[in-house]
Amino acid sequence: VKRSIVLGTGSYLPARRLTNNDLAKMVDTSDEWIVQRTGIHARHIAADGEFTSDLAVAAARKALDAAGCQPTDIDLIILATATPDNTFPATAVTVQHKLGISSGFAFDVHAVCSGFVYALATADAYLRGGMAKRALVIGAETFSRILDWEDRTTCVLFGDGAGAIVLEASEGEGTTTDRGVLTSHLRSDGAHRDKLYVDGGPSTTQTVGHLRMQGKEVFRHAVSMITDVVEAAFEATGTDAEALDWFIPHQANRRIIDASAKKLGIDPDKIVVTLEDHGNTSAASIPLALDQAVRDGRVKRGDLIMLEAMGGGFTWGASLVRW
Ligand code: ACO
Repeated sequence: VKRSIVLGTGSYLPARRLTNNDLAKMVDTSDEWIVQRTGIHARHIAADGEFTSDLAVAAARKALDAAGCQPTDIDLIILATATPDNTFPATAVTVQHKLGISSGFAFDVHAVCSGFVYALATADAYLRGGMAKRALVIGAETFSRILDWEDRTTCVLFGDGAGAIVLEASEGEGTTTDRGVLTSHLRSDGAHRDKLYVDGGPSTTQTVGHLRMQGKEVFRHAVSMITDVVEAAFEATGTDAEALDWFIPHQANRRIIDASAKKLGIDPDKIVVTLEDHGNTSAASIPLALDQAVRDGRVKRGDLIMLEAMGGGFTWGASLVRW
């Protein structure tokens, strides 16, 4: 059976760090309110002139390094983002060009906070289908550019960043044992589209717009949607919460993460949490958390890792990976 195996990870955070106390000088909020409701202490914000493609390239270079690959070894780039550099071309082709790659193909995937899981599942399908050999899968966002910095109910939640992995098609049985992406489960339901959206766009307002969210409504659906796809991944592979080594969720809100893990019966010690210092970086949050856990030695060869996310659309999904 062909499998896509992860060769390396990388991530990048912009230098500027914005704390809750910094935010309290901009809108009527407090460190206490933000920490208590979300678990977030600080987030990183891209500099003027620093674009989503720049964050993506920085993360991609580190992932290539970790994988021991040259940019030209890559024949597929899938970039998950809801904050592209431009309406078109896809930010993925800008990344391709900045990395000096002119072969293979590159495109963006747009599933907001679930973007990385969607991109991983898509790359896995292309690799197993034989359409590419080695893929860069990237989540990169500059959400600071679509926030209404006068709306305290949203601007305190998000941050900028990027994470990337290099995925390779293994030639089949005998070469990889049981490593790789074991299963992915994606869902969406556009009936929820107005609970979390951006109020602008090329076809509607010809403006970029700002993020709008019914926070309580998102919260109300999040846990059941997350547990639905995670349980589907367990069922498809005959595994369970016990067998899991690491749970790496999309980093939106500490309360959503803890409630999901509790409902799934996942030991709190197995949860990787980075939102304290990153905020919600949308499609970048999972590869950022994954890279942190790989580099600090928590994630080891052979570990069973569940990645999951839920976000605007609504979209939601989970991937189970044997490291
Ligand atoms: N600082 C201080 N007070 C605030 C702030 C703030 N930043 N934001 C809102 N408030 C006030 C509200 O105005 C309200 O005041 P009122 O009672 O006088 O009207 C009060 O705090 C309570 O507001 P609620 O919206 O009821 O607060 P809630 O407990 O629901 O927490 C939150 C809000 C944190 C947004 C929560 O609903 C949540 O986490 N939702 C999930 C949303 C999410 O994570 N989205 C991420 C994107 S989707 C994804 O990535 C999965």
